[in-house]
Amino acid sequence: MSATDKNRVLIFDTTLRDGEQCPGATMTFDEKLEIADFLDSMGVDIIEAGFPIASEGDFEAVSAISKRVKRATVAGLARAGMKDIDRAGEAVRHAVKPRIHTFLSTSPVHMKYKLQKEPDEVLAMVVASVTRARNLVDDVEWSAEDGTRTEADFLCRCVEAAIKAGATTINIPDTVGYSTPDEYRALFEMVRARVPNADKAIFSVHCHNDLGLAVANTVAGLMGGARQVECTINGIGERAGNAALEEVVMAIKTRNDAFPFQTGIEATMLNRASKLVSAATSFPVQYNKAIVGRNAFAHESGIHQDGMLKNTQTYEIMTPESVGVSKTSLVMGKHSGRNAFRDKLKGLGYEVSDNQLEDAFVRFKALADRKKHIYDEDIEALIDENIATREDRVKVLNLLVVAGTNGPQSAVLTLDIEGQHHTRQATGNGPVDATFNAIQAMIPHAAKLELYQVHAVTEGTDAQAEVSVRLAGDDGKLVTGRAADPDTMVASAKAYIVALNKLTDQRGGVGSTNSRVHAHHGAV
Ligand code: KIV
Ligand code: ZN
Repeated sequence: MSATDKNRVLIFDTTLRDGEQCPGATMTFDEKLEIADFLDSMGVDIIEAGFPIASEGDFEAVSAISKRVKRATVAGLARAGMKDIDRAGEAVRHAVKPRIHTFLSTSPVHMKYKLQKEPDEVLAMVVASVTRARNLVDDVEWSAEDGTRTEADFLCRCVEAAIKAGATTINIPDTVGYSTPDEYRALFEMVRARVPNADKAIFSVHCHNDLGLAVANTVAGLMGGARQVECTINGIGERAGNAALEEVVMAIKTRNDAFPFQTGIEATMLNRASKLVSAATSFPVQYNKAIVGRNAFAHESGIHQDGMLKNTQTYEIMTPESVGVSKTSLVMGKHSGRNAFRDKLKGLGYEVSDNQLEDAFVRFKALADRKKHIYDEDIEALIDENIATREDRVKVLNLLVVAGTNGPQSAVLTLDIEGQHHTRQATGNGPVDATFNAIQAMIPHAAKLELYQVHAVTEGTDAQAEVSVRLAGDDGKLVTGRAADPDTMVASAKAYIVALNKLTDQRGGVGSTNSRVHAHHGAV
């Protein structure tokens, strides 16, 4: 299917930019590359890889993604300033298909209070920024930030000027998630009808979910003539998030009678994409989340189960397999061999190298020694945890905890810190507190614990515990670490260390030399 087809909708994924922008969703460099590769193989048309001027880490990630992505366009975000645009141009210059995405606020409230500029000055900046970007790349997107609260005449003037200056895509975002489907559709119809050169650009929707209307607005924008959707995996993003890619794709696919569009997305990869992003950001996916939530295809009530047994169409509007959810939860155990394990990973949507397979298999065997039945969810937790922690500078080696009714509870923890083993004992108000105090004793840091959350990966008392830990750095940066283990305390220690590794890594990834993690070499 060609991108010029009238009803072909381009999928612009901004998980690595708008998604990563939300508090706590910081991803490491390696995680970003892995996600970009996955998005590319899933059929995403444009990957917004980051905001290059925002930090050295963002620049490096956009630049590395540009060099490796084979198929998709790679976009870098820039404000209207020349330095921003040049930096974005520099970051995407090695991409097979580079794009600069530049934006400027156009609503009265943003112009007056945020930019402190008059409309004519803003219009001149639109022209200057798009012209500069077009001198660097052929593919330029311009966004009217807070477009849905922009006065119609001024929006049309800006859009016309941006297209005249060379913008090939025009995005009208619902930045604050305020619009309704009818309004958003009418906005695109109005702009496309009034702007004389509108046929020279592709129009794009970008919806935030503050009122829970992001997907509905997105689809309405398409009905109004837009042909690019900006969205994120699991709907992560600023505040209440962005339109969820998986929901938009499946709404179009399942209700093609009502939404007659096509995307290039391989829908069977959606579930895996969701897991990958959830693992990298440590943001759990809501159980009842459409398409990828763990209950999305579960039928609990007797009446529903009875109907499903008679005919699945009674209660199923799309099959779990169509989004990559396997129906069987084939139990594996310690007698399962390498080949069965490889097949299982494949079935779950994981493409792993021989080295990764070997590493995962060792961890699977270790888990199988401790847990009789290994379910799909256990394997997913094991692989996803591995993705989040490999090559980290600090690792949990050993933990012994004393818990019980009579405190204080205590923990003896051994960490590997950059190749050296350190052990500390600490007490605390409960075993988790004691464990975290032991970490603090070995790695003194000012990070504040913002969230500590535990959930069971499967059912039963031998289920693995999956722990999420969110830390706030002294500079306000929020990171989340996640780890799974049959022992809740071990999972807690590992999750804390994952978060700490992320927090102290300036590049937002592994291998940084600019680390603020230092072992405390005091007596044990
Ligand atoms: O929500 C928004 O307006 C944005 C722009 C940068 C496109 O994310
Ligand atoms: Zn946004």
